[in-house]
Amino acid sequence: MNKDIEISEADSRHFYTLTVLTKQFFPYANFSFDEIKRRTSTRNVKYLVAKLDSNTVGFTDFEIIPETPENASLCKLMGLAVLEEHRGKGIAKKLLEKVVEEAKKAGCAKVFLLVADDNAVAIKLYSSLGFISKGKTEKKLGEKHVLLMEKPL
Ligand SMILES: CC(C)(COP(=O)(O)OP(=O)(O)OC[C@H]1O[C@@H](n2cnc3c(N)ncnc32)[C@H](O)[C@@H]1OP(=O)(O)O)[C@@H](O)C(=O)NCCC(=O)NCCS
Repeated sequence: MNKDIEISEADSRHFYTLTVLTKQFFPYANFSFDEIKRRTSTRNVKYLVAKLDSNTVGFTDFEIIPETPENASLCKLMGLAVLEEHRGKGIAKKLLEKVVEEAKKAGCAKVFLLVADDNAVAIKLYSSLGFISKGKTEKKLGEKHVLLMEKPL
């Protein structure tokens, strides 16, 4: 594990990079700069960035869904991406560990996410961190089937 990786909450200095990374890895989300800016100031949505030698090399965003009379609070993991040249250094793992920590702090019962069922690398990453596949959902990403994975806290 690379000790020089720093995880922090994104701020206005990261909007541009987050827009570029989101367009590159999640083009179907179609988020503009203004949308990223709006989302970072949305209550319950948080963006985390991973820095290596002061450069932003990855990010994740998640939403805390507040408790209702029927359900405990939940944490929905949305984007997670690391620049290709910095993969395999434990950066995504560090980002996810921070999400889990924040979800626990917010009293969430679980963290859940959707992942394309052919994304073997991401599925292995999530499984290694204790996420369990709950099977395919109705949702599709283009032609791809989507798995629901969750980690009870
Ligand atoms: C998925 C992704 C975020 C992983 O980022 P990363 O920083 O390289 O992952 P890490 O180095 O933290 O890897 C942690 C664990 O994930 C798994 N993993 C990561 N890369 C892997 C690979 N190429 N092959 C197999 N397993 C892999 C391993 O279990 C690894 O643990 P280990 O190194 O102890 O074996 C990165 O590949 C990525 O950005 N992909 C494109 C975007 C994407 O698919 N995001 C997920 C959408 S749901």
